[in-house]
Amino acid sequence: MDHLQTIYIQLLQKFPKLLTLCSLLGALLILSKILKTLRFVYKNFLRKRRNLLQRYGENSWVFITGSSDGNLTSNIGIGRAFAHAFAKRGFNIILCARTESKLQKVQEELQTLNPKIQVRYIRADFAESHRPDFFDSLTE
Ligand SMILES: NC(=O)c1ccc[n+]([C@@H]2O[C@H](COP(=O)([O-])OP(=O)(O)OC[C@H]3O[C@@H](n4cnc5c(N)ncnc54)[C@H](OP(=O)(O)O)[C@@H]3O)[C@@H](O)[C@H]2O)c1
Repeated sequence: MDHLQTIYIQLLQKFPKLLTLCSLLGALLILSKILKTLRFVYKNFLRKRRNLLQRYGENSWVFITGSSDGNLTSNIGIGRAFAHAFAKRGFNIILCARTESKLQKVQEELQTLNPKIQVRYIRADFAESHRPDFFDSLTE
């Protein structure tokens, strides 16, 4: 450590501008850390939440594939979690999966928790989505 310090001091004596350069780099590093922290605080605590319903219009519908699985207390499926998040924000929901009984259950659950929105479902197997008429058949 002493040896390193000696080299450092010798270097500074030889190149006095090195100290200014090191200080400048240090200041830049500290500044970037402060900016990163401020950005984190703004993004997570201060920024106003975007009003999606206002952006897309009242009575908008969200179509969510794979939205019928998992349970509410633990291990909720990602599609079902999306359905709950959009329903909570006031969007009408179209659920989509293969099993009617599961779709009905999630439909009831969403409707009970969000009585003002409409919830429908479409039964479809996306393994068949390569068929040319597949997406037309969803709207029938
Ligand atoms: N959960 C997470 O945190 C997470 C994070 C990142 C990525 N992912 C990925 O997201 C996908 C879903 O994960 P998950 O945890 O939400 O799974 P999940 O709880 O098992 O839900 C899967 C959903 O997709 C439906 N589904 C499965 N095969 C289908 C098909 N051929 N056609 C139409 N619907 C079908 C299921 O219902 P039916 O069986 O009745 O059709 C169910 O509603 C996976 O690919 C997973 O790797 C999940």
